[in-house]
Amino acid sequence: SRRPRVLSGMQPTNASLHLGNYLGALRQWVALQDDHDAFYCVVDLHAITAGHDPAQLRERTRVTAAQYLAGGVDPERSTLFVQSHVPEHPQLAWVLSCITGFGEASRMTQFKDKSARAGADSTTVGLFTYPILQAADILLYHADQVPVGEDQRQHIELTRDLGGRFNTRFGDTFVLPKAYIPEATAKIYDLQEPTAKMSKSVAGSGLIELLDSPKTIEKRIKSAVTDTGREVVADAQNKPGVTNLITILAAFSGRPVAQIEQDFAGRGYGDLKKEVAAAVLDVVVPFQQRVHELLDDPAELDAVLARGAEKAREVAAPTLATVYERVGF
Ligand code: ADP
Ligand code: NA
Repeated sequence: SRRPRVLSGMQPTNASLHLGNYLGALRQWVALQDDHDAFYCVVDLHAITAGHDPAQLRERTRVTAAQYLAGGVDPERSTLFVQSHVPEHPQLAWVLSCITGFGEASRMTQFKDKSARAGADSTTVGLFTYPILQAADILLYHADQVPVGEDQRQHIELTRDLGGRFNTRFGDTFVLPKAYIPEATAKIYDLQEPTAKMSKSVAGSGLIELLDSPKTIEKRIKSAVTDTGREVVADAQNKPGVTNLITILAAFSGRPVAQIEQDFAGRGYGDLKKEVAAAVLDVVVPFQQRVHELLDDPAELDAVLARGAEKAREVAAPTLATVYERVGF
């Protein structure tokens, strides 16, 4: 029996990944490589749904790929590629969009949030149909599991619905994937507004970007919003800021939350922030070094991505051929 297959991707909409992307996604991807057949992509087609600069996109796509590699994605064991290098993604998305209900697509809460923020005039049809492209990304590879954050759960449900609908109408073609959401690091919150998810679209001093200078990262952690009281205990309801810092420390240090609470008995928030900053920088400093090495050798990075696209097409092309045949093309 084959190893379970996983697929995941991130948008190159920012140059740097943030702490939520790292703990909620990249680190999980790396762990999954050991016993899964993993496909990881830089989803650049998704990155043009809200207006962009072409030169910047090209650069950010490379920097994002370099961060996957620096974070530990191994192109020998996993298939690492750029979405636009594999034309089967938008080809399958079109077919899926023709079996998606308009009302069904309209119920996607992430679209409602993003379009409400952007306003009707700067909301594109691409942003509206983006969950269908995401479904194509996943279904093309017969992925069993999709490592994502909690915020993506609804899109994975849509993917299963569309895959199941296609199978019923046109014959068994797609594997129906499951969301894979590790509980401990499901959600990292903004350091300044610890009830809101850390996100690149909320670019303030509560965002920790992996490629920021170590000084800036340290400063942002030390000025994180904490809560009234002085005890270092996890209590998401009453102490969201402290709880978020404890979550981050637990993830970077590998210490269980209960252990951290015990270690900080009688010590305050200042000590906690110092330890969080040290634990984050322990990982981030060598990570940054590796990213810069990779970017200094563009030919090698391009070669890695070209090999990845080739491997991806070996799966994607036959899937699309089957779909086209079954649809009547
Ligand atoms: P953003 O929310 O910054 O726009 P994306 O939506 O591009 O980030 O998410 C890329 C990946 O990182 C997804 O798997 C997503 O679930 C995960 N992710 C993003 N933000 C967080 C967060 N604050 N905590 C945990 N995981 C996150
Ligand atoms: Na997002």
